[in-house]
Amino acid sequence: MNTSTTPEPIIELKDVVKEFSTGGGFGKQDTFKALNSISFSLHKGRTLALVGESGCGKSTCARLITKVHAPTSGEIHYRGKNLNEIKNRKETLDYRSKVQMVFQDPFGSLNPTHTIEHHLTRPLLIHKQVSNKQQLREKLEELMGLVELPVQDLEKYPHQLSGGQRQRINLARAIAVGAEVILADEPTSMLDVSIRLGVLNLMKEMKEKMGIGFLYITHDLATAHYIAEETAVMYKGRIVEWGDTQAILKNPTHPYTRLLISAVPDPDLPFRDLVESEPNYSLSADKIRSESMKPSTGMKQVGFNHFVLNWEEGVAA
Ligand SMILES: Nc1ncnc2c1ncn2[C@@H]1O[C@H](COP(=O)(O)OP(=O)(O)OP(=O)(O)O)[C@@H](O)[C@H]1O
Ligand SMILES: [Mg+2]
Repeated sequence: MNTSTTPEPIIELKDVVKEFSTGGGFGKQDTFKALNSISFSLHKGRTLALVGESGCGKSTCARLITKVHAPTSGEIHYRGKNLNEIKNRKETLDYRSKVQMVFQDPFGSLNPTHTIEHHLTRPLLIHKQVSNKQQLREKLEELMGLVELPVQDLEKYPHQLSGGQRQRINLARAIAVGAEVILADEPTSMLDVSIRLGVLNLMKEMKEKMGIGFLYITHDLATAHYIAEETAVMYKGRIVEWGDTQAILKNPTHPYTRLLISAVPDPDLPFRDLVESEPNYSLSADKIRSESMKPSTGMKQVGFNHFVLNWEEGVAA
């Protein structure tokens, strides 16, 4: 992204490539390139939306940032330090507490046999955020206030909360651990439409009031503008268009971005006119996909902070 005018990022990916081995048989080792030259930065108090369809590599980016996998080439930096240099147990634990994941399934990461209080107390104690019982109680109440849940919910078990409330607990837990950056992987896609916006608004408040940096992973471009100043559109392991979210929504330039936008049914969005004026985008979806897959021949700047990968029209991949 546009790093020249902004302070040092918390997380920076530089030309990251990730290949997975796919076996191949007969002694061959085939590889699959899940990420191809990915570069972006995450900043304090800002959100980057990483948008694209299933399998394009969004979660792989998050898994590389949390050190589940190492990049095949390229570098990932945390406050200027290469993640490769974060090796010993203490440093790794410290890094993992600063860079937290929140997942799609708000139930998956909560233990059904423990109360909400237990879920929040543990990280506070492990990360030495409190030194006595009174401080612990105060901190627990503060956390519940931050995520707009009543203090009484501390005594409840995960199954006694709604999906949206459970996702709020996951966000509270990330704060309890001391997160600077939260990688939110489809955090609202399993929630009822009516409560999605509440969770997105909470993330926005955490960003604005607490300075948390977010990577907001979604397949739904329509939700990016609620919380993300910047957006990167991914297709098959590459970022095809990136920059200010508003610029991308108002002037989507890459055929794949236009295809994504044409699939958005929300009539209140700023690009409604575009969808109405060009109703045939989805009809030519296969052609757009095959064009978007071809190796890129550079990129161009189409606005102040708006870039697009070049593509070649009309030739089958
Ligand atoms: N450990 C792995 N080994 C082999 N291939 C993998 C591995 N992890 C991911 N992939 C492949 O990399 C590609 C990107 O996967 P990834 O999970 O990042 O997609 P995604 O954009 O998060 O998709 P979704 O929206 O469905 O979550 C997929 O084709 C996937 O099969
Ligand atoms: Mg994923």
